Amino acid sequence: MKFFVDTADVKDIRELNDMGLIDGVTTNPSLILKAGRDIKEVTKEICDIVSGPVSAEVTAVDYAEIMREAAVLAKIADNICIKLPLTLDGLKACKALTSDGHKTNVTLCFSATQALLAAKAGATFISPFIGRLDDMGFDGMELIAEIRTIYDNYDFDTEILAASIRTVDHVKRAALIGADVATVPPATLKALVKHPLTDKGLEQFLADWAKTGQKIG
Ligand code: E4P
Repeated sequence: MKFFVDTADVKDIRELNDMGLIDGVTTNPSLILKAGRDIKEVTKEICDIVSGPVSAEVTAVDYAEIMREAAVLAKIADNICIKLPLTLDGLKACKALTSDGHKTNVTLCFSATQALLAAKAGATFISPFIGRLDDMGFDGMELIAEIRTIYDNYDFDTEILAASIRTVDHVKRAALIGADVATVPPATLKALVKHPLTDKGLEQFLADWAKTGQKIG
């Protein structure tokens, strides 16, 4: 499973990239707002740090304007992936952009039939939002499983990018189902390493080591 980090915070991205933990980055208008930076400037900086796909989202809703914004975003760097809304205009833009050789990420996916349309439009990635479905009382993970089955039934190349991930368990379940990628907030990504028995075991080893009075090297 590939990991993308879901943030526009350059400090977090650099730290996780240096640890070799991430294969790409996803941003969205809310994350750009949170970063408090100019979209083109911060996206360029992110693309210089990470060699994998960096999703930058258009904010237009009609086809012509989406295509205009996509051209601006695509010029930022070679590893830009254009993030498009799951609407008819977004899908039309997806078809045009992928045919033109761009990577695309169709976002705000909440149903299996939406994911089917995105695959037919040639999307590089489909982003089903797990957490937001859970928030509404649905099981977001069921959607990941449905999309996995449909894409496998028809050998679609579109990668399932599990998004709106809130917990370590979301990551585990998405991986068990076979999502190709998980985009994870920095804190949740770091939390994947945590286990109380690891902490307890390490504490015990260090205490016993101190009692030996030895030093390595
Ligand atoms: C995906 O690409 C989105 O940026 C993100 O995962 C949305 O997550 P949220 O529902 O926590 O805002």
